[in-house]
Amino acid sequence: MIWEEVLAKFKELFGDEGEIGVYFAPGRVNMIGEHTDYNGGHVFPCALTIGTYGVARKREDKKLRFYSMNFDSVGVIESSVENLVPEKEAGWTNYPKGVMWAFGEKGMKVEQGMDLVLFGNIPNGSGLSSSASLEVLTGFILRDMFGFEVSNQDLALIGQFSENRFNGVNCGIMDQFAIAMGKAGHAIFLDTATLKYEYAPIKLENAKIVISSSNKKRGLGDSKYNERRSECERALEELKKVVSIEALGDLTEEQFEQYKDAVSEEVCRKRAKHAVYENQRTVKAVEALKNNDVKLFGELMNASHVSLRDDYEVTGIELDTLVEEAWKLDGVIGSRMTGAGFGGCTVSIVKEDAVEEFIEKVGAAYQKKIGYAADFYVVEIGDGPVKLA
Ligand code: GLA
Repeated sequence: MIWEEVLAKFKELFGDEGEIGVYFAPGRVNMIGEHTDYNGGHVFPCALTIGTYGVARKREDKKLRFYSMNFDSVGVIESSVENLVPEKEAGWTNYPKGVMWAFGEKGMKVEQGMDLVLFGNIPNGSGLSSSASLEVLTGFILRDMFGFEVSNQDLALIGQFSENRFNGVNCGIMDQFAIAMGKAGHAIFLDTATLKYEYAPIKLENAKIVISSSNKKRGLGDSKYNERRSECERALEELKKVVSIEALGDLTEEQFEQYKDAVSEEVCRKRAKHAVYENQRTVKAVEALKNNDVKLFGELMNASHVSLRDDYEVTGIELDTLVEEAWKLDGVIGSRMTGAGFGGCTVSIVKEDAVEEFIEKVGAAYQKKIGYAADFYVVEIGDGPVKLA
């Protein structure tokens, strides 16, 4: 058991006295609906069975002692609940600290410190939301430890707030929501404009979800994520002058075509086109799944990638290579980049008997073209955060 190793590490570093809790929060993969969550559109993510393990104990003083088994060489990082400000040297601990700060901003001040040891089996910076997983995990631990009255949905909103305001990434609600609200075997069809959601069973019959990691590292903060967001905002401002809408997600494809000339910059028009069409594709994809039409679902995934590549321009040669090589194989039902893009992962639906061939062929072609290896994960859809012990 992974958590037993994390617990052992905790005891080795911080001793075994007192009340020690063991927790887990998943990572997530988005099946379709990319770059729609900050445009009032729909998303369709699911939680994974891989994620972040945390072992924690409340302290009587104000001290924070954090250790990650993923960054052993960094050692224990110390700070205090009285000094919750983002610092470059604080590295990954800016995520848990950000969540503690965010609780304070929401009227739930954390008055006591804690010892925390973490281990994540989500590849870092891969686009499977290792940071949102850590945020939701921290909120879940704080709730358990201090008895704060917050729902899982609140944990998602607090996580997003901390990422926006403490860590400087203007992300939408998708990742934290998928993680906090995850349900095994189901994806979450979420309307980000209203936070109304429904669980949709993922029945893939003889097919698997395969994640291919490009191993191209990216940091959201220094990527063009925030730039895309403001391009969409500029398009929305101009569209609002000719049609009564709140968000790009309010438009149908036909309406977009009718009003698009109101957007003066071509680049913003392309970004808005993606946001509108991707939102409609997501609605259609969930409908297809309800009708057991996995083939159509796959085609919509493929179309999503094309739009992210050509109109949203967030793919790059690494993700394009993984997807285009996947498309060549008969056993692939659909394949697209997932997450923010600019590196990270792709998600593919692959027939069970073709998974081995997929990993072999896509892997070899990627290595040849890009010059380093990709990694492949056959994943299962898991539950939201839990206390394990
Ligand atoms: C990142 C963000 C999400 C979402 C995706 C793109 O994962 O954290 O809010 O915008 O990119 O769909």
